[in-house]
Amino acid sequence: MDKKKIAGDKAAEYVKDGMVVGLGTGSTAYHMVNAVGEMVKNGLKIQAIPTSKATEAQARELGIPLLTIDEVDHVDLAIDGVDEIDPQFNAIKGGGGALYREKVVATLAKEVIWIMDDSKLVEHIGAFHLPVEIAQYGSKQAMARMEAYGFHPVLRQKDGKTFVTDNGNFIADLHLGAGFDIQDVYGKLTGMLGVLEHGLFLNMCKRIIVGTDNGVQITENPSK
Ligand code: A5P
Repeated sequence: MDKKKIAGDKAAEYVKDGMVVGLGTGSTAYHMVNAVGEMVKNGLKIQAIPTSKATEAQARELGIPLLTIDEVDHVDLAIDGVDEIDPQFNAIKGGGGALYREKVVATLAKEVIWIMDDSKLVEHIGAFHLPVEIAQYGSKQAMARMEAYGFHPVLRQKDGKTFVTDNGNFIADLHLGAGFDIQDVYGKLTGMLGVLEHGLFLNMCKRIIVGTDNGVQITENPSK
């Protein structure tokens, strides 16, 4: 059983006629976008906002009607993957480097669903690196600021080169370790010179849909 696919397919069932839908990025969201594409072929009427160039290309290929972020004042439902999530619904995102657009879309959304396989469920986030999108200009100084806080930033590389996001920026991956002080790190990164956005998505989702060996598990967030 493909745990990512069953989670993605289940999430697509929440997409209804007339919605503006935020389409996430990554290998789990990929399945959800395919499922939504199938529904559009069968007559579903929606408009969608992709959270990355990769998802935009996939959605376009599938014939899903797209809008740009500047063309909408709200998103009805955003569905996206996560890298880690704890029982309080605090998540790390940005493993694929799309965290800025993902956060813009999720923040606009009336409802957010995170989809994943069960390997993403953790007691304390932080074993996975925390991605931070930083401006290229002054990136060395931004890295030094994060190093000074003990965040152990590593500039992300891909194919032997420094990784560049869809927005033309770099990614610093912070190695914080499971159980780090989430509020403290959130506070220090928010507004830090050179930081566009970070991958801490705290208590943003209404529900999580998790693919397991025994099928799909849905957990509602009682605080939403
Ligand atoms: C993309 O930048 C990320 O936030 C993804 O949503 C996250 O990395 C989950 O990806 P997978 O579903 O591929 O694990």
